[in-house]
Amino acid sequence: MFITLEGPDGSGKTSQIPALAEFLREQGYPVLTTREPGGTVISNQIRAVLMNMENTSMCARTETLLFCAARAQLVDEVIRPHLEQGDLVLSDRYADSTLAYQGYGHGNDLQLLRQILNFATGGLWPDLTLLLDVDSELGLRRRKDGGGEWNRLDAYELALHERVRHGYRQMALAEPERWVIVDGSRSFEAVQAELRRVVLERLQRTVSGHAGR
Ligand code: TYD
Repeated sequence: MFITLEGPDGSGKTSQIPALAEFLREQGYPVLTTREPGGTVISNQIRAVLMNMENTSMCARTETLLFCAARAQLVDEVIRPHLEQGDLVLSDRYADSTLAYQGYGHGNDLQLLRQILNFATGGLWPDLTLLLDVDSELGLRRRKDGGGEWNRLDAYELALHERVRHGYRQMALAEPERWVIVDGSRSFEAVQAELRRVVLERLQRTVSGHAGR
């Protein structure tokens, strides 16, 4: 099964994923975690270009295609092989990030982006997507206070982050069988407990329905 975590910057995905993966392993599921952009040697090289503060002249199409190029490599080299051997793949961001940021955020055509994403992923979409929903100001404050690197993409303005949040919510409401919205403004423990409950429930439902991969 392929599960993705999505959300605006500072929504807490990156700290929630290791604890969720550990819990699922304890339950007996073979779990592989990965993150975007990155997750392979080539994808990490592309990530460095995307994050470089000196690349101020990068145009929107270049940015979109670089995210998609990093993803194509990750899908072929890591995600598909692990899904084929029956692992549960848990990814910190995936194709929906491109729709949220480059589409809703930067105003690129959503239909066109979906075509590019289908090409980049070979048509692989997640079975379950967890949206960690947080207010944009809280998210940005968490990013700034978190002490991590402040990169080229963080420097985009608050209005963009608000469009991204709105985009995520629109996508989640449009496809409720795939998306689950989790309130990411609560404590780490409360969010973790809900993520565990939702994922376990989905895994059990898939097994009992024999619909799993
Ligand atoms: P990162 O430092 O990995 O942050 P986070 O923990 O929030 O994932 O930076 C990823 C940034 O790249 C984040 O601002 C979202 C953005 N992004 C896109 O704009 N499009 C994409 O397709 C992806 C995968 C990420």
